[in-house]
Amino acid sequence: PAPRSDPDSDREASTYPDTALRTYLERLEEALSSAESEGEIPELALLSGAKEDQIGVALCSIDGEITSVGSEHAFPVQSISKAFAYGAAIDLHGLDYVTSIVDEEPTGEEFNALSLDPVTKKPKNPLVNIGAIRTHAMLGPTQQERTKRLREVLDAAAGRTLEVHEETRKVELETADRNLALAYMLRAAGSMDENAQDVVGGYTEGCSVLVSVADLAVMAATLAGGGTNPITGVEVFSRVASRQVLSVMLTCGMYDNAGDWVSDVGIPAKSGVGGGIIAALPSRFGIATYAPQLDQHGNSVRGTLAFERISEDFALHML
Ligand code: DON
Repeated sequence: PAPRSDPDSDREASTYPDTALRTYLERLEEALSSAESEGEIPELALLSGAKEDQIGVALCSIDGEITSVGSEHAFPVQSISKAFAYGAAIDLHGLDYVTSIVDEEPTGEEFNALSLDPVTKKPKNPLVNIGAIRTHAMLGPTQQERTKRLREVLDAAAGRTLEVHEETRKVELETADRNLALAYMLRAAGSMDENAQDVVGGYTEGCSVLVSVADLAVMAATLAGGGTNPITGVEVFSRVASRQVLSVMLTCGMYDNAGDWVSDVGIPAKSGVGGGIIAALPSRFGIATYAPQLDQHGNSVRGTLAFERISEDFALHML
């Protein structure tokens, strides 16, 4: 059958709305709205219009059926872009080369820590800032080409052209001391030759790309489906790349909360400080949530709650 679309999004109206799932998501949204959220919205997220009461949840099956609630708000993808940059680097250079430069080990540290192995000088994994900055540097010879490549991959995974939130990009760059420091450390350690400011500039642009929760669900479904976008049929990543992205998401996607996440939710996921979380159930579907209040790890509080509920209600935990 032809791919279906979601009535909650701007995509064309669904011919076969999955009413049971929609009802489930509406109830979930309602439950989350009244859930106590002691998290905080970062100041940066206010620039793109983040508000306390925003909640979105979306599912996209690997045959392209989207069901979503609250997908009208667009927010910066932030660290979720790291997973897609990693897949792009693997397809450009091969898995062996990429893992020879950036390791695949969880850090147990916060996302912007200086997670560089003291002996090998490798960043610990591609989903913390230092590893993502190093991975970004692999995407092409110039800043322009690297950024173009990342934007193309994000667009292809979402199945539409995504915009950058200029103010977010600008303000993040003005306050990028920590990321610049990480980039200079990579250079000082002999791990990176590229210009630190250029690489951080491109990395930051990727973080500032605006997505809806329905876009994120399609992006997650692209990973769940072995790299092929379920709506457009475009092969965004090879199977090898999408498997590796999901493997590293499982162990490193939720930063210093990755252990709790695997125990409580049990599927590969990636969060962003914009308030989004994606998770992928291989060969079945992608799920995404949006709620801008974050916990101390930089993960969405209500998003985490939503995933705990969804995982339990649909028995998604892999164990
Ligand atoms: O580089 C940064 O710090 C941000 N642009 C992205 C961090 C992020 O999303 C961490 N996620 N939870």
